[in-house]
Amino acid sequence: MSLKEELEQLRQRALHELKGLKDSSGLAELEVKYLGRKGELARGLKALQDVVAEERPRLGELANQVKREVEEAFATIKQKFGNGTPAPIDVTLPGIPPLRGHLHPVLAVQRELEELFRSMGFMVLDGPELESEFYNFEALNIPAWHPARDTQDTFYVKGGEPKNRWLLRTHTSPVQVRALQDYGAPIRAIVPGRVFRYEATDASHETTFWQMEGLVVDKDISVSHLIATMKALLTGIFKREVEVRLRPGYFPFVEPGFELDIKCLVCGGTGCSVCKHSGWVELLPCGLVHPKVLEYGGVNPKEYSGFAFGLGLSRLAMMRYKIDDIRLLLSGDLRFLEQF
Ligand code: DAH
Repeated sequence: MSLKEELEQLRQRALHELKGLKDSSGLAELEVKYLGRKGELARGLKALQDVVAEERPRLGELANQVKREVEEAFATIKQKFGNGTPAPIDVTLPGIPPLRGHLHPVLAVQRELEELFRSMGFMVLDGPELESEFYNFEALNIPAWHPARDTQDTFYVKGGEPKNRWLLRTHTSPVQVRALQDYGAPIRAIVPGRVFRYEATDASHETTFWQMEGLVVDKDISVSHLIATMKALLTGIFKREVEVRLRPGYFPFVEPGFELDIKCLVCGGTGCSVCKHSGWVELLPCGLVHPKVLEYGGVNPKEYSGFAFGLGLSRLAMMRYKIDDIRLLLSGDLRFLEQF
């Protein structure tokens, strides 16, 4: 057989064998067989040396053409199957890390406050979100006829007794009396938790939000203890001096009662939707525990006194992170949550 015939047959066999492949197995061997250093094509090219000089250019051209065609056919089939050798697995490569979540902004602030108050000797307590009228109102010196009930209209739940219905707690204050009953005096406790109101929602009102109650009962507790603790709280959370103002405030379960406001940190005091354009945000209602509340808790008001505060945890988180709409907190919107 002449070299010309040999080369043409080689081309046909190679293309035919390649066509017969169903997958990448066998591809590597085939490549060695035809294109390898000692493969059929190499042998064909080598045979060129032995042909007469006049024939060499023509046959050389043919050999190169066959080589190109076979190489191209391999390249095409490799694209189809992959190159035949499975990718080696490097077990030392780092794996795909699982996605880690992070704390919700309100919970992040809550955790920080818990740590701060623990360092001052406070217990961190919990209370039921489904509460009785007795603890939510009565024991806090808010009897059924009291207009203060109307300002905290809520979601009542079927069942319970006619004069002591079940409701979603409107504040964390009921845990004041529960804690006094459970632990007696002296006591230092904070109670972070969810509360509920029958509200028309807007940028600063939600039906569900977070508060943190604080309660200290001991001998000779006065307003100065209250103010010092509130200052420690605010510098602890904002890591800087925050402008505050103290106004008289009325809450049936404290006497005297105060409203502690902070200069709005979202707008810097110039007025925005969060501070209702007043420049100030009510953040910390507080006061000295009313003797009746101590009595409901089984503590003698002649022997003990105390202070309490009801921190708006949602609002505090909004101030801290400059969030201008409370509804975002429960929106579950990842575009919002992933910023923290
Ligand atoms: N529980 C009150 C509310 O949700 C806030 C409050 C006011 C709590 C004064 C207190 C306090 O402990 O002393 O509106």
